[in-house]
Amino acid sequence: MIRFCLNGNWIEEHDIDPNWTVLRYLRTNKRQLAAKEGCAGGDCGACSILIGQQSNTGSFEYQAINGCITLLGSLHGKFVVTVEGLKEAEQLHPVQQAMVEKHGSQCGFCTPGIVSALTALHFNRLHNQQGPVTDHDIHIALSGNLCRCTGYRSIMDAAHAMFDYPAPTEHSVINRSAVMQFDPKSNTQAHTSYLEKDGRHLYVPQSEQELQQLLEKYPDAKLWAGGTDLGLEITQQFKQFDRIISLHQISSLKAVTHSQKEIRIGAMLTYSESESVLAKSFPSFVQLIERIGSRQIRNLGTLGGNVANGSPIGDTPPVFFALNARLVLSSINGEREMTIQDFYHGYKQTDLKKGEYLKAIAIPKLSAQQSLHVFKVSKRKDDDISAVLLAAVIEHEGEVITDARIACGGMAATPLHAVKTQQALIGKPYTLSSFEQASDVIVQDYSPIKDVRATKEYRLQVAKNLIIKTGLECLGGL
Ligand SMILES: Cc1cc2nc3c(=O)[nH]c(=O)nc-3n(C[C@H](O)[C@H](O)[C@H](O)COP(=O)(O)OP(=O)(O)OC[C@H]3O[C@@H](n4cnc5c(N)ncnc54)[C@H](O)[C@@H]3O)c2cc1C
Ligand code: FES
Ligand code: FES
Repeated sequence: MIRFCLNGNWIEEHDIDPNWTVLRYLRTNKRQLAAKEGCAGGDCGACSILIGQQSNTGSFEYQAINGCITLLGSLHGKFVVTVEGLKEAEQLHPVQQAMVEKHGSQCGFCTPGIVSALTALHFNRLHNQQGPVTDHDIHIALSGNLCRCTGYRSIMDAAHAMFDYPAPTEHSVINRSAVMQFDPKSNTQAHTSYLEKDGRHLYVPQSEQELQQLLEKYPDAKLWAGGTDLGLEITQQFKQFDRIISLHQISSLKAVTHSQKEIRIGAMLTYSESESVLAKSFPSFVQLIERIGSRQIRNLGTLGGNVANGSPIGDTPPVFFALNARLVLSSINGEREMTIQDFYHGYKQTDLKKGEYLKAIAIPKLSAQQSLHVFKVSKRKDDDISAVLLAAVIEHEGEVITDARIACGGMAATPLHAVKTQQALIGKPYTLSSFEQASDVIVQDYSPIKDVRATKEYRLQVAKNLIIKTGLECLGGL
């Protein structure tokens, strides 16, 4: 049985197909029809709903997520609010009121999703953050919501105006969830929960020990993190998984530890959660994370999922390559560590053995002589896959480049170091002309493919330019 709170009521479910998404459940079983299915792939935001949870800092916050690619089982232990739960008696929520008065809706298909995204911004700003909301804050909140007919001007107006209306009272669903003693453990079972139907199973272990026992018994079970890759296999490739293990309740997989030498982050840390963790040591990495998917995707997708998925166009692996990160893999037989470059064997092939899972990523801190540079080139700023991603750590002592670790995504079947370009830089003067000369060598490191995102020639030219841009960033020319 799984247990979650929907619009203020705790609900228990047992015999639902583990492959059902939240959106399917809401629309089919609960007849809550506000959230819509547009793309079924995490791109349009029409299916957005709100999840309430404790943030890194211990405060209660709401996050908008895509119900179309989130499994129902991933809700176990969580507070869920849909647009149906926002109205208080006959009073619209301030976001709804502002959308009406600023003419933020025409056909209305996208509106519940937009209201959900703005409600998260409204709640978190009122309760957790100070200061007026900026256009930038609103753009980030709406980066995963497409509106094809109203136009964003009036939606932006509504987003600014939503703070002018009286805030929801303490009796509203949105605030009732927040003031409840938030302790998922007291509201859920202390041991593995599950869904089961027609021979298909979904398990929600509470600890790594339970996870290891499940993997020992069912080594072929599908590990489910944020589901932003896997969810599409169900909704767009029509796959059905017989056994799924959802990792979302295992708190040790979200652990973050800082030592003098490294930051160790749990594999289940979401992109949104990692922003504050990495901000101080790796600001350019955080700038990249802010361009991964949309806010909804970053609220679900995990760093561990990006690494374990093994896609050549995953954005974070090249950065982990450049940073010389190590992966901690675990199973019932214990833990082992390896560098990230040893982890990938070929297209979507990794070193994970049956029964093993990715536990954490250890990132060495940079020394005063080192700097990290990260560039993502895609057709759109938000919610787009990279044509090329380049990450570089450059080390210099005085006037000489003493080390260079450069890796690209989108240029080969796996993320790959630009070995020859690195060699062309090491030992050279710390000047722009060293980077310009080394940029010519990158054609010897990669032989990219042509696909819908870019041609081979374009990718090589972009990678070459990004080496020069790295030099400009190093030498303060940008
Ligand atoms: C609309 C949209 C936009 C996107 N934009 C980007 C983008 O800009 N850049 C980008 O890089 N990606 C993007 N993605 C892809 C996806 O968001 C990322 O790859 C994400 O990091 C996957 O993490 P997840 O937690 O959702 O993984 P899941 O989908 O849950 O899992 C992915 C794979 O990893 C395995 N796995 C997950 N966690 C573990 C673990 N701890 N141990 C072992 N195996 C594990 C799963 O079994 C599965 O095979 C996008 C996806 C969508 C839908
Ligand atoms: S239906 Fe488009 S993001 Fe969910
Ligand atoms: S109001 Fe029609 S798509 Fe936004």
